[in-house]
Amino acid sequence: MTALHRLDPVADVGGPHQPLLEVRDLTKHFPVRGGLIGPKPVARAVDGVSFAVAKGETLGVVGESGCGKSTTARLLMRLIEPDSGSLTFDGEAVGTRLGLSLRDLRRRVQMVFQDSYASLNPRLTIADSLAFAPMVHGVSRRDAMEVAGDLLGRVGLDPTSFLGRYPHELSGGQRQRVNIARALALRPRLVILDEAVSALDKSVEAQVLNLLVELKRQLDLTYIFISHDLNVVHYIADRVLVMYLGKVAEVGPVEAIYGRPAHPYTRALFSARLSMDPDARTSAAPLQGDPPNPINPPSGCRFRTRCPHATAVCAEREPAPVDLGGGHVVACHLHEAAHA
Ligand SMILES: Nc1ncnc2c1ncn2[C@@H]1O[C@H](COP(=O)(O)OP(=O)(O)O)[C@@H](O)[C@H]1O
Ligand SMILES: [Mg+2]
Repeated sequence: MTALHRLDPVADVGGPHQPLLEVRDLTKHFPVRGGLIGPKPVARAVDGVSFAVAKGETLGVVGESGCGKSTTARLLMRLIEPDSGSLTFDGEAVGTRLGLSLRDLRRRVQMVFQDSYASLNPRLTIADSLAFAPMVHGVSRRDAMEVAGDLLGRVGLDPTSFLGRYPHELSGGQRQRVNIARALALRPRLVILDEAVSALDKSVEAQVLNLLVELKRQLDLTYIFISHDLNVVHYIADRVLVMYLGKVAEVGPVEAIYGRPAHPYTRALFSARLSMDPDARTSAAPLQGDPPNPINPPSGCRFRTRCPHATAVCAEREPAPVDLGGGHVVACHLHEAAHA
């Protein structure tokens, strides 16, 4: 048994079919400057987002920059407080008196960010960075050092060579391996990877992706994999959630989202992507311009100002989610009419 395995993972409470995480109506509006008269303006970064993450899956989250992916991630770890909405982790309500405490949530859920350097304390050796969290959780220094060595080995870095080094003595890829190791130090059940491989060179990125796949299998992990890179998400995700301006546009199995994208936004997003497979290229026009400002989002469907199919109803009311079958759900009036 390795040192890491002596740190027991948190038990599976509700069995394999209970979602690991359920998110309901999550909302976060950031106050912004301006608006001397009238209501204070807010950026509707996340605006009523609901989804579930099954045990053992990788949920990919895609969408243009600024659509609320990182804010959603920070809300899931409660690094920022939601304005409203609820989180349920393996059946336990998060942050309620009788539910799961934030301390326990933050042991079960860990996050890896894009910037490998900013995430590590430059004054701590890799050993101390990795041993820190286990020691906070009552593991002796000696055992925590053993865990640190075990973790480094798991992420493909030789402990004898790397434990004593400082972050600036590592390459970007090596630092990101250390960040992944650190995220695993408390045996989390869910790891949120927010553009975690986006800053790496393509060859290093592929190696780190393979490492993530292998670690998931070894440690029974569940991933939320956030990326603007549609090819990477295609490779790693089981299901994909598409966000647009703080809302869920579409969610479904990876084959459905990539093979039969239903939301005009998803189609436009994919048409900008160079597919290896000519059959998979969509015929939709690529997206024009930047997304509108989340301070004053369009009424009704938020995508309507860039949508080639928009009609009057799209400005009047927000589309309700339409179930296309097989877990493929889209929020678009075109489909509402077709499935009415
Ligand atoms: N702390 C903050 N204060 C004000 N606005 C914010 C803050 N954090 C994010 N935003 C805004 O919320 C929106 C969503 O941002 P973000 O979640 O970072 O998007 P993404 O990760 O998809 O690029 C953006 O318009 C961003 O400017
Ligand atoms: Mg982001």
